[in-house]
Amino acid sequence: FWIRVPLIAAEDMREDIVENDPVMRSEDCVEEEKSWLWWHHFRSLCDYNKRIALALEVGSDLPSDGVIDRWLGEPIKAAVLPTSIFLTNKKGFPVLSKMHQNLIYQLFKLEVQFVITGSNRHSQKEFRSYLQYLEYLNQHRPPPNAYETFAKGYEDYLQCPLQPLMDNLESQTYEIFEKDPIKYAQYQQVGMRMERGRGGVLMVLGAGRGPLVNASLRAARQADRKITVFAVEKNLNAVVTLQNWKYEEWGDQVTVVPCDMREWEAPVKADIIVSELLGSFGDNELSPECLDGAQRFLKGTREKDRDPEAQFEMPYVVRLHNFHQLDDPQPCFTFRHPNQGRSYHPPPPGQPIPVKAGETVCARFWRCANPKKVWYEWAVTSPECSAIHNPTGRSYTIGL
Ligand SMILES: C[S@@+](CC[C@H](N)C(=O)[O-])C[C@H]1O[C@@H](n2cnc3c(N)ncnc32)[C@H](O)[C@@H]1O
Repeated sequence: FWIRVPLIAAEDMREDIVENDPVMRSEDCVEEEKSWLWWHHFRSLCDYNKRIALALEVGSDLPSDGVIDRWLGEPIKAAVLPTSIFLTNKKGFPVLSKMHQNLIYQLFKLEVQFVITGSNRHSQKEFRSYLQYLEYLNQHRPPPNAYETFAKGYEDYLQCPLQPLMDNLESQTYEIFEKDPIKYAQYQQVGMRMERGRGGVLMVLGAGRGPLVNASLRAARQADRKITVFAVEKNLNAVVTLQNWKYEEWGDQVTVVPCDMREWEAPVKADIIVSELLGSFGDNELSPECLDGAQRFLKGTREKDRDPEAQFEMPYVVRLHNFHQLDDPQPCFTFRHPNQGRSYHPPPPGQPIPVKAGETVCARFWRCANPKKVWYEWAVTSPECSAIHNPTGRSYTIGL
C-alpha cells in the first residue's frame, strides 16, 4: 500500500469543521511538520507494517531542509509531481526550480518512481516533455562522491561486523579494505607530520596485507625520514602476502612479525605505532584489548607531553572546604545490601520513542566482559526508558 501524503499540508480553508481532539497539541506541532505527523501516526497505527509505504506529493512550496531530510528517512516508493509545480523555460519546456531539482536528485538516490499528474500546462509541447525533463535531470545529477561510490550496492544493508581478532580474515576482505578511497591517504598525511630528517622505529600493529606499511613508507619518504618498520600480523594467510612484499619491495627496512600483538616481545621500543583496529559498531576488532597492551612498545612519554587537561580528568578524593556549591550533588550509583530485587516494566523493545524538539535524549552504553568475550549492553533512558538491549550478550558478543 502506497499512502499518498503531501510533503506540506495544504492550509485548511474549511471554517465549518468540528474538530475532534487533535492528536498532538498545536504548540507541539510546527505547521510544516504536520503532514509528517499524519503519516507517522498512520504507520504507527499500522504497527510499522513493511507493506505500508509512501507516495509523497510534491507541491510548489517545499518545507525546510530539516523537514525534507526527515522525509528522506521514510520508505518513499513514489513521488507525485503535479504539472502545476513545473516552470517554463525560454524555449517553452517544463523545468523545475533549483530547490525542486535538489529534492528530485535526492529522490533519485532512493530510486523512487515518479508519477506525473494534472493536465498538460505546456500545451505547445508534448506531455512527454515532463518525463524527458526528469530523464535529463537523471543524466545530469551530481556525480557520487568517493564514499558513495565505494559503498555502492551496500546502502542500508545490514552487515554483521567482522571479528578479525578471533577469525582470520579472508583475502577478499582485505581487498575490500584496500579499496578504501580515504583511509590510507589520511594515514599517510598524519605520518608525514613525523619530524623531518630523524630516523625512527615504526610499528604497524595488525598489518593485514600491508597497505599501512606502504602508506607509512610513503609518508617517511615525503617527510625525508629514514624509518625501520615492524609489521605485526597474527593472520598467517596475510603474513604470506607481507613476506612477499618484503621480498619484492621492502627489503631489510621492514621486519615481518607473524605474531599476536598481545604476546609479542618487541626487541626495541617504537617512536610511532600505526594501527587500524577501530572497526565498526562496538569496536568489534577489540582495539582496547589489543592496543592498550601495545602501549608498552612505545618509547616513554615525557611529563611535558601530558595533556594540559589531564589534571581535570583525574579522580581525587577531597573534603571540599573553600568552594561554592552550585547544586545538590546527584547520586550516580546506588548499592543496596542485601539486594532486594526490584520489578521493572520496560516498554516493548524495538519501539521508536517520540521526542519533542529541544528535548534531551539520553542513551547509555556499558561494556561487559568475561574471560572469553566482551559485549555491550545499552538502553535509552530519557525521555523514556527503552529495554536494555543485548543483555548478557545474548545476541552479540565479541570473542577474545
Ligand atoms: C581491519 S584489519 C586492517 C588491516 C590492514 N592494516 C589494512 O588496512 O588493510 C586489522 C588487522 O589486524 C589484525 N589483528 C587483529 N588483532 C590482532 C592482534 N591481536 N595481533 C596481531 N594482529 C591482529 C587482523 O588479523 C587484521 O589483519
